[in-house]
Amino acid sequence: MTVNLPRPVVFVAILLVLSGCAVATRCPNCGKIPVPYPLSTGPTCGHQSYKIRCDAGVLKFDTLNNTYTVKSISPENRLFVIGNSRFLPNTCVMADFATNGVQLNTSLPFTITASNTVLYYNCSETTSFVAIECPPTSICHTYQNASPQMSTCRRVPHCCSYKPGSTTNLYFIRITPDRCSSYTSFVNLNMSLPVSKWPDPAVELTWATPPEPPCVTQADCDSTATCKDVQGGVKTCLCKHNLRWDAVVGQCVPALKNILDESSVENSSFVARADLKKIRAKRITVFTSTFCSVGITIVSAVLTTTICIRRRREKAARQRLSREREEIVGAGSGDRSSRIFSSKEIKRATNNFTPTGLLGAGGFGEVYKGVLDDGTTVAVKCAKLGNTKSIDQVLNEVRILCQVNHKNLVHLLGCCVELQQPFLVYEYVPNGSLYDHLHDRSKQPLTWSQRLIIAHDTAEGLAYLHFSASPPIYHRDIKSSNILLDAKMKAKVADFGLSRLAHADVTHVTTCAQGTLGYLDPDYYWNYQLTDKSDVYSYGVLLLEILTSQKAIDFNRPTNDVNLVTYVKRIVNEERLVDVIDPTLKKHASTLEIDAMKAFGFLAISCLEERRENRPSMEEVSEEIDYVMGIVATVAEEKLSR
Ligand SMILES: *[C@@H]1O[C@H](CO)[C@@H](O)[C@H](O)[C@H]1NC(C)=O
Ligand SMILES: *[C@@H]1O[C@H](CO)[C@@H](O)[C@H](O)[C@H]1NC(C)=O
Ligand SMILES: *[C@@H]1O[C@H](CO)[C@@H](O)[C@H](O)[C@H]1NC(C)=O
Ligand SMILES: *[C@@H]1O[C@H](CO)[C@@H](O)[C@H](O)[C@H]1NC(C)=O
Ligand SMILES: *[C@@H]1O[C@H](CO)[C@@H](O)[C@H](O)[C@H]1NC(C)=O
Repeated sequence: MTVNLPRPVVFVAILLVLSGCAVATRCPNCGKIPVPYPLSTGPTCGHQSYKIRCDAGVLKFDTLNNTYTVKSISPENRLFVIGNSRFLPNTCVMADFATNGVQLNTSLPFTITASNTVLYYNCSETTSFVAIECPPTSICHTYQNASPQMSTCRRVPHCCSYKPGSTTNLYFIRITPDRCSSYTSFVNLNMSLPVSKWPDPAVELTWATPPEPPCVTQADCDSTATCKDVQGGVKTCLCKHNLRWDAVVGQCVPALKNILDESSVENSSFVARADLKKIRAKRITVFTSTFCSVGITIVSAVLTTTICIRRRREKAARQRLSREREEIVGAGSGDRSSRIFSSKEIKRATNNFTPTGLLGAGGFGEVYKGVLDDGTTVAVKCAKLGNTKSIDQVLNEVRILCQVNHKNLVHLLGCCVELQQPFLVYEYVPNGSLYDHLHDRSKQPLTWSQRLIIAHDTAEGLAYLHFSASPPIYHRDIKSSNILLDAKMKAKVADFGLSRLAHADVTHVTTCAQGTLGYLDPDYYWNYQLTDKSDVYSYGVLLLEILTSQKAIDFNRPTNDVNLVTYVKRIVNEERLVDVIDPTLKKHASTLEIDAMKAFGFLAISCLEERRENRPSMEEVSEEIDYVMGIVATVAEEKLSR
């Protein structure tokens, strides 16, 4: 006999089943603290990428090198707070200083949030010149002077403050002997409150929205989900028809219409990062397989022959390798394709690297002037890259850089990989660097319109690297000595992409901040994360240098003004921007021209915003300078017509 249940009863029954069954298992409470999904205290509950420890009723969070106590969890916002490390007794050194502070595993879905304000203490003198939020007015001094437990830190002079931007993932609060030895972090700090009303030091972290749990068989999922192959052999408990994945509760729930947050769940950064990893893994496989086939050809040739034949075969293999390399380099490029130069050619061109041909020595090695057999003058740069990349990887990077073709970028003609270090061959730019023209007293000072053109050219070159090059190229070391001037005083940006040759990381999280003191983006300095806005910051310093003719770091200025950015920002706060403009520019300038110079100065300041999301893009900067040039052109016309 069948019982015909009325429809509403069936519906209620389904709902009951749904609410009672979870696709993912929430972990049991740790002592009295609930452990929300996806946090996992054991192998059978939560999501295994979200590991956290329950240690005798206390939740602990493990970083790469340390363990911190979890103070609170907010599941709805995916936030939790861990305690700040403690001071070693009677020192201004943190307990986690030996292990370099908080360092999260960048492969895991945890990040430090932008709600933290981090104050650094017992900093080195270098740090206080490089990082801009370290002057006597910095909030760090306020806390140091008002808080009794900071008494030992008062004995050491330098401290800094840092508030991360919200657009990038933060993985580190790093303290090292060459920087600072302690930190205090505050969550949602309202700086206008007195120190007595500040919260206890703590670090807020967030976790990425979890994807559906993985499974091996259907038994790992419950009745609301099916264990299915998603892609690449990874099986996942996918919600059944008419159900959707709710990442917050970790369950399949009825798929109501107008669910607003669905896309945000699917598009979570964790999922995106997982995809990126897959792509990266694929690239590595492709690379290894081509590399191996080349290797096997050579090895078999060597083993099967006598010395004489071996030599001949080796030669053939070398030629084959070099042909393959030519192909790597030449692939896909147009008429201005890159070349591979032989060691003989390079030695002939530079007259065997005679010291008289030395043009300069940069962070990546010496640069020699040379003349190729066809009469072209070139600059040959020895790339001291360390052993981080194989020759084929270098060639691949050279191929990318050779395709970069813009009138405001120094053109890379090719390279030579036969000598101990790779050599890069560039077009020769005859008129020296912007640094020489600004700071060498024996040179004729640059005029205002020359400076504007140089600033504009540089912006165009960088905008091309950021927005037109594929993949985008971040320069990482913009400074006046890297801006070269041609015979017509047009600017060409040099040395772009060199850091790509040295570092294989794709994640944009580097292990050490590169760049030149005085030009280095503080956001990059503190959290090691690279975006186009780091270049915008360095470019802002360049603009100040152009406007003031002062060096980015100059120990001849008073201690608090050693860093040009700190110095000019102080002057701008006192509403005296005109005072720092190079006197040779101000002489004979009309009011309108002075206004244009001020606009230029404020543009520089906007590039130097501490929060990177507030900085303009290189394209916007270029348009702004265009606008200032328009004003100057109008003035010139008026002068003519008078
Ligand atoms: C400051 O840090 C250094 C290590 O960088 C340490 O040796 C020194 O004792 C610290 N100063 C104080 C007052 O604790
Ligand atoms: C931190 O941990 C990583 C990985 O476990 C290790 O490579 C590194 O040496 C450690 N650093 C310190 C300062 O202990
Ligand atoms: C970081 O996390 C990944 C993924 O769980 C793991 O494979 C890796 O070993 C971790 N790295 C370190 C240094 O612990
Ligand atoms: C910070 O504190 C001040 C003074 O109590 C208050 O007026 C202001 O609204 C607070 N700001 C925020 C963002 O809470
Ligand atoms: C995820 O984001 C991409 C790009 O921002 C967008 O095209 C796509 O439609 C989004 N996916 C969902 C499911 O909303």
